Amino acid sequence: MNIIVTGGAGFIGGNFMHYMVSKYSNDKIICIDCLTYAGNMETLSPLENKKNYKFIKEDIRNRDNIYKIFEEEKPDIIVNFAAESHVDRSVENPSIFLETNIIGTSVLLDACKKYGIKRFHQVSTDEVYGDLPLDRKDLFFVEDTPLHTSSPYSSSKAAADLLTLAYHRTFKLPVTISRCSNNYGPYHFPEKLIPLIISRALNNEELPVYGKGENIRDWLYVEDHCVAIDLIIRNGKVGEIYNIGGHNEKTNLEVVKTILKELGKSDSLIKFVQDRPGHDLRYAINPEKIQKELAWIPQYNFETGIKKTIKWYLENKTWWEHIVSGEYKNYFNKMYSYRM
Ligand code: NAD
Ligand code: TYD
Repeated sequence: MNIIVTGGAGFIGGNFMHYMVSKYSNDKIICIDCLTYAGNMETLSPLENKKNYKFIKEDIRNRDNIYKIFEEEKPDIIVNFAAESHVDRSVENPSIFLETNIIGTSVLLDACKKYGIKRFHQVSTDEVYGDLPLDRKDLFFVEDTPLHTSSPYSSSKAAADLLTLAYHRTFKLPVTISRCSNNYGPYHFPEKLIPLIISRALNNEELPVYGKGENIRDWLYVEDHCVAIDLIIRNGKVGEIYNIGGHNEKTNLEVVKTILKELGKSDSLIKFVQDRPGHDLRYAINPEKIQKELAWIPQYNFETGIKKTIKWYLENKTWWEHIVSGEYKNYFNKMYSYRM
C-alpha cells in the first residue's frame, strides 16, 4: 500500500513516520510536509536510507501540486497530521490556523475525492470538545460530546472535522477521525509544556507556569497514539470518530514538579506567570470505544512515559539545542515578555 502522511516532519507525524516505516517494510510511506517552524528534517534523518520512505516538501494548501502528488503516488491511505498546532500562536495569529487546518484539509479531501482512496484519516484533538470543570471528575469526553471550542486552534480543528464528516456523508468518502488527548514524547517542539520544561530546567532557566498551574491535561505517550491511528486506518469503521486517551490526568503543576524531581532540579525554578486567555480548565478522554472496538490498550502510563521522554531529551540534546538556540529564542522572548 502507498500511505501519505502529511505533517510527518512534526512531532506526532514524525513519530508516526518512524513507527510506520519500521513496521511496514512492504508499504511505501510518503511524507508530505512544507516544513514550517515546527517541521524538522532532523526528526526524519534516521529514515533517510530506508527503501519504503519518501519525503516530498509541499504545502497541503497548494491544490495543483497536491493533485500532482496524488496522480504520481497513487496513495491508498492519507493520514492528515499537517496543522498549525499551538494554542498560544493561534491567539496571536489565527489566520494561518484557518488556512492550514481548514483550507489545507479541504484540498486533501478534494484530492481524495478526485483520485479515489481507500481511507482518509483526520488526526484531530480532544480540544474540539472545549473543556470540563475542575470539580467534576466524573465527566469525560465521549465521541458525541458536543463541539464547544475555546481557541482559534480548536475551532479550526473542529471545522476540519465537520468538513471531513461532510465529505463522508455527501460524497461517500471513506473517512475516519481520531480525537486524542495531549501527547508527549520524543521530537516534541519545545514551545509545548513538557519539552519546554525539560529543556529549560536542564539549562536552569525559569519555568513559566500559567495561572496557578491547576489546569488539567490528560497525557498520552506519543507511541500509544501512533498505535491507535494504525489500528483505526486498518480496522476502524468508515465514518466513525474514535477518542484516544489513557486516563492520565495531571495538573500542570504536577507535571512540572514530576519533571523537576526526575532531573534532580529545584522547584524554585517555577515561575507563575500571566494566564493564557480563554485557558481550557480540564481535558479528560473516555477511550472505551477504541478499547472495545479495536482492542487498543496504551502501553505507557504517565510515570513510565515521562521517564522515557526525559531519557530521550537527555540523550538527544543536539536535536532540541538546535531549536532553542535558533529562531525559537525570538519567539520565546516575544511570547513570554509580557507574561514573565
Ligand atoms: P506539530 O506542530 O509538531 O507538527 C505539524 C507539522 O505540520 C509540521 O511538520 C509542519 O511543518 C507541518 N505543516 C504545517 N502546515 C503545513 C502545511 N500547510 N502543509 C504541509 N505541512 C504543514 O504538530 P503535532 O503536535 O505533531 O500535531 C500533529 C496533529 O495532531 C495536528 O493536527 C494536531 O492538531 C493533532 N493533535 C496534537 C496533539 C498534541 O498533543 N500535540 C494532540 C491531539 C491532536
Ligand atoms: P500546551 O503544551 O501548549 O498544550 P495545550 O494547550 O494544547 O493543552 O499546554 C499544556 C498546558 O500547559 C496548558 O494548560 C497550558 C500550560 N502551559 C504553561 O503553564 N506554561 C507554558 O509555558 C506552556 C507552553 C503551557
